[in-house]
Amino acid sequence: MSARRDRNIRLPAPYLRRIWLDAGRVTDRAAYPFCLSYLRDDFELSFDRSITIIAGENGTGKSTLLEGIAVLAGYDEAGGGKGYMPVDHSKAIEKMGGQLSKALRAAWLPKITNGWFFRAESFFSVARYQDEVNMEYGGTPPDYLSHSHGEGFLRFFEERCQEQGIFIFDEPESALSPARQIEFLKLMSRMDAAQNCQIIMATHSPMLMAYPNARLLRLSKSGLEPVTIEETDHYKVMREFCADPVAFVQSAMEK
Ligand SMILES: Nc1ncnc2c1ncn2[C@@H]1O[C@H](COP(=O)(O)OP(=O)(O)OP(=O)(O)O)[C@@H](O)[C@H]1O
Ligand SMILES: [Mg+2]
Repeated sequence: MSARRDRNIRLPAPYLRRIWLDAGRVTDRAAYPFCLSYLRDDFELSFDRSITIIAGENGTGKSTLLEGIAVLAGYDEAGGGKGYMPVDHSKAIEKMGGQLSKALRAAWLPKITNGWFFRAESFFSVARYQDEVNMEYGGTPPDYLSHSHGEGFLRFFEERCQEQGIFIFDEPESALSPARQIEFLKLMSRMDAAQNCQIIMATHSPMLMAYPNARLLRLSKSGLEPVTIEETDHYKVMREFCADPVAFVQSAMEK
């Protein structure tokens, strides 16, 4: 290994430092994904911490942005790691992360392609692929699919997130109970402490948003802005709910 490469590998996260839209590469402004209002010509996003968390209402474009970043990192937009193609794209709903990534530019220090793009919707395809690959090469099958949904997720995270890399998580909480979300927070903390993992995560979970050492951003039509957990709608709604669950639900249904 060259001295330069060795030095690069020891550099701490974040590795992806900045992304920005190159307006000259936008193919069709009126069509998805470029019609998303936050993808203006001056769109840019800097990563100054190892962990970046993106909150925002349904449909604002979080997954689209993560797909674009994942493709930039060398992952399949449907999920997985470098060299994985877990989904038969001829049968899958078309993802457009590839389109977006072609118009994005990125500054890396250094360029990292190890890691994982985790999206709940393709977890089973990825897990099955991983089980099959391991069997084919005579290894012990990880057998993710014989666990409950949440157990399989967590086991998968624990095994995949041990080494240097860029890890992109789209709603990792989707199968996790509150207790398992706490386990996931502990995993994030270990990855953070190792200083060789960059996490970019979209979530609707106030518990995950409250991770102490992260940059929390809200994505809305007007773009990305830093927020505190207390400023998010997710937290505000849950705070009202926790204060009086039955009254909250009753009044919410009557609105
Ligand atoms: N392949 C596609 N073709 C056209 N429009 C799409 C496509 N994928 C997503 N969209 C639209 O783009 C918008 C953003 O979708 P996206 O999935 O990125 O939102 P999101 O913030 O991740 O939402 P959620 O919180 O529900 O996961 C939505 O209005 C969606 O309907
Ligand atoms: Mg989404």
